[in-house]
Amino acid sequence: MIEYREGRDVPPEAVAQLFDTVPWARGRSPERIAKALAASDHVVTAWDGARLIGIARSLSDGEWYATIWDVIVHPGYRSRGIGREIMRRMTAFYRGRGFSYVALFSVEGREGWYEQFGYRLHPRGMRLDESAPDAG
Ligand SMILES: CC(C)(COP(=O)(O)OP(=O)(O)OC[C@H]1O[C@@H](n2cnc3c(N)ncnc32)[C@H](O)[C@@H]1OP(=O)(O)O)[C@@H](O)C(=O)NCCC(=O)NCCS
Repeated sequence: MIEYREGRDVPPEAVAQLFDTVPWARGRSPERIAKALAASDHVVTAWDGARLIGIARSLSDGEWYATIWDVIVHPGYRSRGIGREIMRRMTAFYRGRGFSYVALFSVEGREGWYEQFGYRLHPRGMRLDESAPDAG
C-alpha cells in the first residue's frame, strides 16, 4: 500500500535517488537537497514501505505566492494515480487561503495533466536565461 506524507523531514539521500530517475533533476547532491528541503514551504511524499517513490515540493512567502517544483514519481510506479494524489494534496494545501499565484512550470506535453487540478497556462510567464547578457 502506498502511504502519503506531508512535511519537509525527508531523508535527502532518498530524495537524491528519486531525483536521479529524471534527466532534469539528475546528479543533485544530498547536501544541497537538504538545504533545498529546509527552505521549502511544503513537501508531499509517497512511500512504498521505507522506499520513497514520489515527491512534490513548493516554495512560498506563505501569503500570496507559491511555486511548485520537482513533481516526480519513480518510473516503476507511474500511471497508478500516485502523481495525481501528490498534486491533489499539494494543491489542497494552498487552495482557499487567499494566494494570488500558485504556479508551476510543466514539462512539454504535461500541461493537460496539470489542468485536472485547476492549473491554467499563463501566457506571460518569464524565466531568466543565464546565458543572456545582464543589464550591465
Ligand atoms: C508527471 C508524473 C509525476 C506523473 O506521475 P504519475 O504517478 O504517473 O501520474 P498519475 O498516474 O497520477 O497520472 C498519469 C495518468 O493520468 C492520465 N492523464 C494524462 N493526461 C491527463 C489529463 N490531461 N487529464 C487527466 N488525466 C490525464 C493518464 O492516464 C496518465 O497515465 P500515463 O502517464 O500513462 O499517460 C510522472 O510521470 C513523472 O514523474 N514524470 C517524470 C518527471 C516529470 O516530468 N515531472 C513533471 C515535471 S513538470
